[in-house]
Amino acid sequence: MGKRFFRSIEERMAAREAFEEKFAAVLQKMAEESSLLKMEDFTQHGNTSTLLHCIAVSYFSCLLAEKLHIAYHRRELLRGALLHDYFLYDWHEKNKYHRWHGFTHAGRALRNARKDFRLSEREQDIIAKHMFPLNLALPRYRESVLVCLVDKWCSTYEVFSRSPYEELRVKFLPLAAM
Ligand SMILES: [Fe+2]
Ligand SMILES: [Fe+2]
Repeated sequence: MGKRFFRSIEERMAAREAFEEKFAAVLQKMAEESSLLKMEDFTQHGNTSTLLHCIAVSYFSCLLAEKLHIAYHRRELLRGALLHDYFLYDWHEKNKYHRWHGFTHAGRALRNARKDFRLSEREQDIIAKHMFPLNLALPRYRESVLVCLVDKWCSTYEVFSRSPYEELRVKFLPLAAM
């Protein structure tokens, strides 16, 4: 049976719970197998670490796809978004290694992610193209477009919020540290 457009509150809550369980399991497994937790040491914007930023972009990209009733590959969207800023340094620190951060960090995130994970074409595209239009390469998949949009929205929110993503912080950050 196809998905109904309108669902009851109970159905929506159950779907959200199932999604969050899946999200938590993927996040935890990835953190065990990589340097994902290292991103917690670096500030992305304001009071948001790079890890929390990636968790938020991943979580809200999936939610947006659901809201818009877009057909999408959830696992790949979730993983690609979690790794989209896997560049593993503090971009606020002056360093010639990342002087052109805005232009180069997507490529560096992809190189780091390839070392730690076997990535699909779609996951690689999500990471490599998330800085469009600053990086001119066009996103190839709808999942890449979603991350591109949600990343900009989250970044703006993080700059202005004093205590961003309270719920996500409590629910998901401890899982990455387990
Ligand atoms: Fe980025
Ligand atoms: Fe980002």
